[in-house]
Amino acid sequence: MTDVTLSSKNPTAVKAEALVVATAQTSDGVAVVSDQLPTDLLTQLETLAPQLGVTGARDEVRKIPAGPQLAAEVLVLTGLGERAEDGTFSAETLRRAAGAATRELAGLASAAIALPASDDDEITAVTEGALLGAYAFNRYRSAGKEAPKDATKGSKSAGRNGKDPVAAIEILTPLHKNAKAKLAAERAEILAAAVHATRDLVNTAPNELYPATFADAAKAAAKDVKHVRVTVLDDKQLASGGYGGLTAVGQGSSRGPRLVKVAYTPAKPTAKVALVGKGITFDSGGISIKPAAGMEAMKSDMAGAAAVLSTVVAAAKLNLPVAVTGYLCLAENMPGGNAQRPADVITIYGGKTVEVLNTDAEGRIVMADGLVSAVEDGHDVVLDIATLTGAQMVALGNRTSAVMGTDEVRDEVKAAADAAGELFWPMPLPEELKANIKSKVADVANSGPRWGGMLNAGLFLQTFVGDHPWAHLDIAGPAFNDGGAHDYTPGGGTGVGVRTLLTFLEGRAK
Ligand code: BES
Ligand code: MN
Ligand code: ZN
Repeated sequence: MTDVTLSSKNPTAVKAEALVVATAQTSDGVAVVSDQLPTDLLTQLETLAPQLGVTGARDEVRKIPAGPQLAAEVLVLTGLGERAEDGTFSAETLRRAAGAATRELAGLASAAIALPASDDDEITAVTEGALLGAYAFNRYRSAGKEAPKDATKGSKSAGRNGKDPVAAIEILTPLHKNAKAKLAAERAEILAAAVHATRDLVNTAPNELYPATFADAAKAAAKDVKHVRVTVLDDKQLASGGYGGLTAVGQGSSRGPRLVKVAYTPAKPTAKVALVGKGITFDSGGISIKPAAGMEAMKSDMAGAAAVLSTVVAAAKLNLPVAVTGYLCLAENMPGGNAQRPADVITIYGGKTVEVLNTDAEGRIVMADGLVSAVEDGHDVVLDIATLTGAQMVALGNRTSAVMGTDEVRDEVKAAADAAGELFWPMPLPEELKANIKSKVADVANSGPRWGGMLNAGLFLQTFVGDHPWAHLDIAGPAFNDGGAHDYTPGGGTGVGVRTLLTFLEGRAK
């Protein structure tokens, strides 16, 4: 990952390949947001802005020669948009502008970032954004795989696609020696590493990442992390242990299912939290097979489990005084000869029966095993996260995730998401819709009418947690960006959910 340091150097004097400065939209044009650049340079830039095509809009990044007044080689202008009514820029605005800039720095060895960073919140936002934007997934490219070995030796010259993220960044701030500021930067590094790890897992091809190799990845991620233990139940243990959901979904694939528990247990925990993640390493739909168009995106159907794994590891690295157990519900949903059929009746861990009406509603089936197991293990609160329904995208689009659950926990998740800068929106679980998942033969059916599809799925999960404090995060749209990169978000896996889950855990640590 990109190396990050705090520094109090003057932006004019910092020797880096690129210097990043913010622009903003004002009533009379463009402002360059810096109190440390020479006034004549500011005036020059603001005057030339129209010719340079610089408007100061959000997600606008322009690179120009730095000129003789700056020690850096290239000046990168990144837009903040308009100031909020109170005259400031929100943390998320800073995060996005920093990330939009570092996305354009791929291939460079060094950059200095001179965005507003005069308190802990600003330093946190700028550092997080810069690191979140400095991401590339080049594993499958035959060239440009390695990061520059020595950050002081020139940049790489490969094409933008396949270039590595900027090797080293300095965040310019007067608080570079302040202990709280340093802690904020260290936390940002751990958080960004967790988001990157999640994106990597989502982006990994499904012929490589399947339940058994995902379990290996969990062990590798937890290796050398203090107080974290990984235990794996394989397909045979799941079948004999009564985990009928994972078993049924996994039986259509030659690659058997796994239930992976990743437990972080600090010495004196203030709380005990369970995180349950949907880990369908590929969702073909099974016998209720999906149409071919767009099916490739279903390699991302394990984004919830990936977020859970990364969050538990990050919580441990941050030494949070909260015990956290991740339950990764891993299966591949395939239409093999032994696949489950529509009309099958299966028994979830704990004894409730499910009539499988649609094998493409597989996520809720594997999550049911995980949720019952989590409730059984005795946690204060259970959160689950899943790319669960297409209906989530119909309701909220692909930028906003949904959260449902018991009232307090749902609101706590929403507040954590707001603080972390992730878009979540609360959704109801109406009693009135329970009829939608009634089965003619079993305790519950795994699918119902199209209307309210996201809520039907939420209500199905609720059946397995009862009235235990719980929230369900449906990240179907936001987990995978099949469009172009924007702000600090790359194409492909986004890592959504990690920041919200980690912020939730930090809230429980107080
Ligand atoms: N993994 C999908 C949901 C999904 C769709 C996630 C698109 C991301 C993008 C899930 O397993 C699924 O197929 N859900 C069905 C449920 C239906 C059959 C009741 C859906 O939403 O169509
Ligand atoms: Mn499905
Ligand atoms: Zn699925």
